[in-house]
Amino acid sequence: MSLDELQFSGLQKAVARTKQLSVKMNNATDHETTREILSEIIGQKLDERTIVFTPFHINLGIRTRIGKRVFINHACTFLDIGGITIEDDVQIGPNVNVLTEGHPLDPAERRKLIVTPVVIKRNAWIGAAATILPGVTVGENSVVAAGSVVTKDVPDNSVVVGIPAKVIKKLDF
Ligand SMILES: CC(C)(COP(=O)(O)OP(=O)(O)OC[C@H]1O[C@@H](n2cnc3c(N)ncnc32)[C@H](O)[C@@H]1OP(=O)(O)O)[C@@H](O)C(=O)NCCC(=O)NCCS
Repeated sequence: MSLDELQFSGLQKAVARTKQLSVKMNNATDHETTREILSEIIGQKLDERTIVFTPFHINLGIRTRIGKRVFINHACTFLDIGGITIEDDVQIGPNVNVLTEGHPLDPAERRKLIVTPVVIKRNAWIGAAATILPGVTVGENSVVAAGSVVTKDVPDNSVVVGIPAKVIKKLDF
């Protein structure tokens, strides 16, 4: 899909709606109101133990699913047209980018949108300012170190570090 097609499709309306609701959400002064408005943005009633600190930036919303007891620290950005799944008990540090959208490298095709889902599995911890690139699955219980750029799937029970993120440790428990 090109960006021009996106502008004329139903997505444009949904993005505009999310933008409006996001202003309200990011001005809320309590977790309950934030949770209520975010539930409206994503079209899913959030678990009352899930906490999202504002500001929180999301471009579409309806392609995101957030599990139970999830914690998302402030200033995270979700580009979710490709679909984002955050499973139960995931913790996400501040300034994390979760990206499901990109453009072709071919300059002639550059305005097309390529979308691929991201999945962050149960009990994973994403450190501050990490970036999760389109198509990546972060495994159960795994840890992404602060500042990492995750370009490939992270296996379960692993610690990944750096740019590009590499496994430095397996978690034994
Ligand atoms: C990854 C992390 C959890 C530490 O895990 P750990 O397994 O205990 O790692 P260690 O401290 O033993 O470090 C192992 C190696 O990785 C390096 N390393 C650790 N964190 C790193 C990071 N964020 N970026 C680059 N390298 C890192 C260490 O320097 C060390 O390198 P060395 O072996 O060459 O000395 C921690 O460094 C981190 O990034 N925490 C995130 C904190 C955060 O974002 N908090 C916000 C609240 S959610």
